[in-house]
Parts: sequence; structure tokens; C-alpha cells
Amino acid sequence: MNVRNLLPAVSLVLMAPAALSAQYPARDGTVANIEPYSFAAEDFGIDPATVTFTKDIAPILQRSCQNCHRPGGGAPMSLVTYDEVRPWAPMIEYRTAIRDRMGAMPPFFLEKGIGIQEFKNDPSLSDEELAKIQAWVDQGAPRGDPADLPTPRDFSEEGTWTLGEPDLVVRSPVMTMPAVGPDRWGDIGIVPTGLTEDRYVQSVEIREVNDIPADVEPTTVGGRYIFHHMTYSSGVLNPDGTEIIEDTRQGWPIHEVGRNPDIFLNGVGMLLQANSALHLRASHLHATGWRETTGQLEFGYRFFPKGYEPQYRRSGGTGGNGIDIDVKPNQAGQEFHMYRVLSDHTMIMAFEPHLHAPGVRMCLEAIWGINRFTLNCVGYDHNWVKQYVYAEDAAPLLPKGTILHITGFVDTTSQNPNLADTRNWAGGGRRSVSNMFIDLGQSVRLTEEQFQAKMEERRTKLGDRNAYDIGCPLCWAPVIEMEDAAAGGDSQ
Ligand code: HEC
Repeated sequence: MNVRNLLPAVSLVLMAPAALSAQYPARDGTVANIEPYSFAAEDFGIDPATVTFTKDIAPILQRSCQNCHRPGGGAPMSLVTYDEVRPWAPMIEYRTAIRDRMGAMPPFFLEKGIGIQEFKNDPSLSDEELAKIQAWVDQGAPRGDPADLPTPRDFSEEGTWTLGEPDLVVRSPVMTMPAVGPDRWGDIGIVPTGLTEDRYVQSVEIREVNDIPADVEPTTVGGRYIFHHMTYSSGVLNPDGTEIIEDTRQGWPIHEVGRNPDIFLNGVGMLLQANSALHLRASHLHATGWRETTGQLEFGYRFFPKGYEPQYRRSGGTGGNGIDIDVKPNQAGQEFHMYRVLSDHTMIMAFEPHLHAPGVRMCLEAIWGINRFTLNCVGYDHNWVKQYVYAEDAAPLLPKGTILHITGFVDTTSQNPNLADTRNWAGGGRRSVSNMFIDLGQSVRLTEEQFQAKMEERRTKLGDRNAYDIGCPLCWAPVIEMEDAAAGGDSQ
């Protein structure tokens, strides 16, 4: 197939909504528009004619795509060899170029032009990488010199953990779902961790392993996995090993198919005790629709070193609203707002926008004094639940009294492909066709000393007074000695 000939045809069909979108201003993130970002290779000092698969494209696919686009990886097609990739070249150009909008690949919808840009485990593509992909496809997707190919990735069982092989893998009971049948909700029991000492968890990654052969490519994610999502807790087992002792119980971040792993920043961490177990209390399983499937979840934990003690108290995300939501039919650019005043100094570890099918975007702002900082805006695609875990030195560090503001954007027009119905009003509720508006992220509370120490650390790393840290409004503020403040009475 000639890729050059295919491109205009594919572009015409796929880009039709953008071409017709004269009613929307360019790059309006509040609607489900899909206008691609294009970049010229020349602007990065690259001669487009020299861009090849083996030299330029394969490394990008390895890093950002093959976690899913490999045999058995969950995506509809493998993007490992040149022959596998080439027919998809125009679609790869398109899906990567929509970058932060619904449908973008890789699914990580961070808006690059605004807010904090440093995240852990960030698969997103740089402007230069997009320029390379676009130049490559425009040149007819040449293969290049096989000698330039990077070493292939390890797709063994151990090699496919996104964060590397875990220190401990706990497995859920094995479940079987018929090819076709009703969903199954409920408690699937207790599984011991086997730990003989307390350990603090640095990251947790959950994946499903099942008996669907790796070389069949079901067309949907729901056709490959039976566990849709699961909420669970852990705690110490009672003496007969039948139940968790209630006052040792703690809840863990949710598992949802397609959700990226949880990573706890230094000074944080969740405890798995000696003689603990996971209680898999709320699972939602569904039939694949085409095949009886037997599978289980694997919970992969990586630990902080032995003896590590977390310093900070965990607290949840910003919050939100799942109840009294009012979504109008057939209208783009609708907004939800939620404000919360921080009662403690807070470090935000992760931003996790949660909307339902109409959702297209969420922004997180910090309002401090007369300043309003946009910490981040991200696109939203209800086919993917993604969290954005801040890099160690970029996590917002906010003084108590800061007002956190989240804005959710929804689009209920036919521009939004996730929407089932453009005609009816919808309220809040649990199903995807009803609505939620929540930041499920993670944060920690800091004492005054911890807050000052953390800001001191940041200042040292920033170095220059002119280096600005969006998430740290007080980083450069003079430190007021407590005695002085007390002596000053109520003058402030
Ligand atoms: C986290 C898993 C994951 C990652 C990472 C990922 N993909 Fe995908 N990709 C999927 C899934 C699942 C689908 C099918 C559902 C959809 O279209 O959203 C898909 C769909 C696609 C499609 C459309 C296929 C079609 O049938 O039209 C293209 C093209 C694509 N991905 C390319 C890429 C590229 C290129 C990258 C890396 C830059 C990438 N993907 C990264 C999981 C992933």
C-alpha cells in the first residue's frame, strides 16, 4: 500500500471535524475538537528527507507505545516491526498530533503550553518527536538502515511491568467470565501478602493476566480484559487469617483498566504490614463479548528501602461533585467548578481528573492571595482514566489558605465521540452516561517545619531568584521568624 496515497484520504475523513470547526476558535480545549498540532522538522534542525523508521521512529514507539502496542499488550495492533507499523503510519501521525485531546496517543493528555510540565513516568511526545513523525509520514514512511534499529524491548512477563519488576506480586483469585453474560459486581475475597515484616510501598502497578492468547487482537479493550475496575483495601489478618482487623485497614488507589501506576513521592508511601492481606472488596467484572475468559489481577508493589519511614500525612485529591450535576444536552463548552480551601500546607502528588463520557478537559488552579496559578490543564477521554503524578521537584507546594479550584469542561454535542446521547439532559451518577466531576488525585499535609524545609530544598534546586516554580507560590517569599511574627502582634 502506498502510504503517500493513503494519507490524503485518511486525513480527509479524520480531520473533517477540525475542518468544519470554523465555529470554534483554534485549539479550544473546552470542546471535543481534534485539531492536530503540526511541527516542521526544519525548525528542529532536522532535514525531513533523513528521517527513517529505524533511526527516528522505532525509539519513539518503543518508549511510548509498545507497552500496549505489542502482542498481548491490550492495544488493537502491534507496533513493533516496520511491517506492522507502516500501514498505520498516517493514523499514527494523526493520533499523536492531536496530542492532548480525546483519542490522542499515547493516552496522556497533558496540555504542554500551560502549567507544570514535569511528571513521573511521562510517555508523552515532545514537539521534536511529533515533527519527526510528521516528516517521516510525509516522506512516505521510509524504513531506513536496519543497522540503526534500537535493541528490541523485553516483552517477557517480567519485562512488561511499566515501572520495572516489582518487589512483591500479590495475585487475586482466578475468575472466569462467560463469553456473554451480565456484569458481576462484588467482593472476591482476601489474599494474604505473605509479608513477614512491615514495608512501605513506593509504587503499585496492577495488571490483568488472562487466557486470551497474545496473538489475537480483539478490537476493543473490553474484548481483552474482564476486570473493569476494583477498589480494595489492606490490613493485618486476624489470628485465623479469615478477616482483616478493622482498625488496621486502609484503602488503596483504585484499579481501572488503562489506568497508569501509582507512584508515591519521597517522604510519602503506603504501609503493607507484616501478616497483611488485600481485601478485594469491590470488583466489577464483565464478559468480553466473544470468548469465555479466565483471568486474575496481579498487584505489583515496589518498596522503599527497609527501615524507611514516611514523613507526611496523606490526604486525598481536591474533591468534586458526583451528585448534583446539571449537564445540558447538545452544548459544547459547559463548565463545572469546585473550590476548596486548604486547611494545611499541602504538597500535591498527583492530579487525577475524573469526569464521565461528556468530559473533555479539566484544569487545576491554585489561588493564593491575589494570584491565580494554573497548575495544569489536561484533556479528558473517558475511554482512559489517567493520573498525572508530579515529578519530585515539581509537585505543587501550597500554603494553607490556598484555594484549589478545579474546572471541568464537558461537550455534549456530536463532536464528542464518547457520548451516547446528545438529546437528553443528564445529572450526576455512577454510570458513564451520568456524570461525575472529581479530582481523585493524591496529596500530603505538611507541618510548618516540613513546609519550610521542602521550600528550602526547592529554592536550592532552583538556584536563581529568577527561576520560577509555578507550583510553589511562596518559594521565594522571605521566611518570617515565628518570634518576630509574634512580636508584631496583629499587625499582619
Ligand atoms: C496505555 C496503552 C497505549 C499506549 C501507551 C498507546 N496506545 Fe495506541 N491504542 C491503545 C488502545 C487500547 C487503542 C484502541 C482504543 C482507542 O483507539 O483509544 C489504541 C489505538 C491506537 C490507534 C488507532 C487504531 C485504530 O484502530 O484506528 C493508533 C494509530 C495508535 N493507538 C497509535 C499509538 C501510538 C503511535 C502510540 C505511542 C506514541 C500509542 N498508540 C500508545 C493503547 C495504547
